[in-house]
Amino acid sequence: MTITNRRVIFEKRPEGWVSEDCFRVEDAPVPELGDGDVLVRNIYMSVDPYMRGRMNDEKSYTAGFALGKVMQCGAVGEIAESRNPKFEAGQIVTGMLNWETHTVVPGGAGIVRIDPALAPLPYFLGILGMPGFTAWYGLLKIGEPKAGETVYVSAASGAVGQVVGQIAKLKGCRVVGSAGDDAKCKWCVEGCGFDACFNYKTVDSVEDALKQHCPHGIDIYFENVGGRMLDAVLTRLNPFSRIALCGMISQYNLKQPEGIHNVRSLLVNKVKLQGFIISDHFDLQPEFMRDVGGWLKDGKLTYRVDVADGIDNAPKAFIGMLKGENFGKQVVKLGDDPYQA
Ligand SMILES: NC(=O)c1ccc[n+]([C@@H]2O[C@H](COP(=O)([O-])OP(=O)(O)OC[C@H]3O[C@@H](n4cnc5c(N)ncnc54)[C@H](OP(=O)(O)O)[C@@H]3O)[C@@H](O)[C@H]2O)c1
Repeated sequence: MTITNRRVIFEKRPEGWVSEDCFRVEDAPVPELGDGDVLVRNIYMSVDPYMRGRMNDEKSYTAGFALGKVMQCGAVGEIAESRNPKFEAGQIVTGMLNWETHTVVPGGAGIVRIDPALAPLPYFLGILGMPGFTAWYGLLKIGEPKAGETVYVSAASGAVGQVVGQIAKLKGCRVVGSAGDDAKCKWCVEGCGFDACFNYKTVDSVEDALKQHCPHGIDIYFENVGGRMLDAVLTRLNPFSRIALCGMISQYNLKQPEGIHNVRSLLVNKVKLQGFIISDHFDLQPEFMRDVGGWLKDGKLTYRVDVADGIDNAPKAFIGMLKGENFGKQVVKLGDDPYQA
């Protein structure tokens, strides 16, 4: 049987905001497998903020996407065909695959088997995947939370933020979040157990909201947003506080980044500010899986995913996520999920 692969090609570099004409969706035949190759039928693909950086033609921590080629992404799929003794048809795998319905993986390199009994498949792109690992690492290894401390996390209901807040609660912290929507804030408090969460788009001033919700100051800031949010947080930091600089999504689509004014706070409060890229820390993945996999199994963590339907909607889902239209971890469903409840 001939299989058609539907895929998304990186068509045009964005200047400022990404638009749908940066992408082209097309059909292509699936090439013949060579010895050692594996064909994966992708079931879910992830859209992530870092992809915006890879659309630029500039030096960064990882290579940019090549124009005219299919884009890469984390995905979960089922082995459709294998010419590799390590994989069998029907097994579920995850790894860096592509924005497409079917990926040929040369030599089976870079994919790993996962146990679908552990969690719903989209979780392997979220809480049990890169975003969950990022949350765990940034909070525990950089933030080093102690019971009673105040943790503030921006983009709190997102793929990373919701995990940060819940782990911080498990560590006995007071947890405050912010998000760009009242329903997201409500869910952070009622669904994830945050002590408070405010809508940064509707409060009169983020500085005042932080004063109100962090009356004893901020000991750990898990930074997802950057720009004016970071400037406001700098006014509220405690001595010896820590900033895990995970991301700066408010800046990714700007032609000119915003300036930060309150930098003196880092000096007078003797703050530790550390940026990190999670791909540098794969050696810690077993520890992460033990912790977060264990908490999830014990019912101590919850996770929210937002599923868009079909490869044709992947560009829209990606752009929507950058604008805050996602509620939870944004994934795109590409094909039948045999484990969906
Ligand atoms: N360092 C690493 O290795 C690493 C790994 C993964 C992710 N990250 C970073 O972590 C951050 C969160 O990523 P994620 O995957 O969890 O995404 P996400 O939070 O699921 O989705 C992005 C969210 O960012 C918020 N946002 C967008 N524009 C904003 C703005 N101008 N101001 C404030 N919030 C804005 C939106 O939520 P609202 O509705 O709340 O505005 C949107 O839903 C990103 O900065 C990302 O680059 C870093």
